[in-house]
Amino acid sequence: MRHLLDILDLTVEEIEELIATANDIIESPEKYRDACRYKKLATLFFEPSTRTRLSFEAAMMELGGNVLGFSEASSSSASKGESVADTAAIVAGYADIIAMRHPKEGAPLIATTTSSVPIINAGDGGHHHPTQTLTDLLTIKREKGKLEGLTVGLCGDLKFGRTVHSLIAALSRYTGVSFVLISPDELRVPSYVKFPYIIDKGITYREATSLDDVIAELDVLYMTRIQRERFLLEDEYLRLKDSYILTPEKMEMAKKDLIVMHPLPRVNEISTAVDADPRAAYFRQAKYGKYIRMALILKLLAEADGEVYRFRDSITAKTIEHTCTNPRCITSTEQDIKHLFRLTDKENNIYRCVYCDTRADIK
Ligand code: CP
Repeated sequence: MRHLLDILDLTVEEIEELIATANDIIESPEKYRDACRYKKLATLFFEPSTRTRLSFEAAMMELGGNVLGFSEASSSSASKGESVADTAAIVAGYADIIAMRHPKEGAPLIATTTSSVPIINAGDGGHHHPTQTLTDLLTIKREKGKLEGLTVGLCGDLKFGRTVHSLIAALSRYTGVSFVLISPDELRVPSYVKFPYIIDKGITYREATSLDDVIAELDVLYMTRIQRERFLLEDEYLRLKDSYILTPEKMEMAKKDLIVMHPLPRVNEISTAVDADPRAAYFRQAKYGKYIRMALILKLLAEADGEVYRFRDSITAKTIEHTCTNPRCITSTEQDIKHLFRLTDKENNIYRCVYCDTRADIK
């Protein structure tokens, strides 16, 4: 059984195949019109979404399949206290594939422990958003013609921006990529992303607080929203919310072949006056999301075998129990799950929560 929880669940070759399929769908959509006839996609969205949910649903419809699901936790039995594990077990009896978005980090991983159909992580808290990353990779490939050798600036909320974390992990596998990480000090890329995917791999990077200072160097500028819903203190959000606003004046300092991306929704970090600039790729990017999700649905359905992936059993032997302190971790709400940590860095004795990657100091 294949699931997609983290972009690194896919090899570089598999991502190339998905991009090729998406491009073929764009060229010849009629070839795929009945590819998922009689198949059903369930979209279980415990958190708001426009692009991810609707592009998944449009993707399945354009493949000839059907969709069911809910768009908010309050209209599901989660509001009565049903667990993620039980929800996934039940819905797997109604659908052939499930896309799940949840505010708690690690929730889709819990779903894989009881689901007999593929689970796609459609965003879990501030953790991962692999189908956005597939969208981003398709966009870069179509707009720049390559994924290698690019200087990629990521700007805004690099701490809570799950799309940023998944994109860094994905791009770190392509030669010659370098990163410019532009954020306020408080919203820097967390160490669980920076160390394994940038520092340990010897990738060129630098951190900056000013977009003006670095915009001229960039081939790709990936803007992000300050993630209000992830802040524990509203005052902290209000202080940081207008840290970066991309304007036509700033665009004058950029390369002529820069592309500006944004996972959207934007709040005010890109002025609408930038939309008319041909380098603004974010609306094209949102549309590409439908095609790459069509490619992903085809792949996961082709590899589905109805076996429940016993993640919990398979990792228990390699983990230790320890309390996860991350209030956004699924362990803070899900019933009857052990808090499990795995040793991710033997040399420095670093353990991380298997669900949300939060670090623990364990002697
Ligand atoms: N990019 C993205 O995940 O958008 P939605 O929150 O609207 O799905």
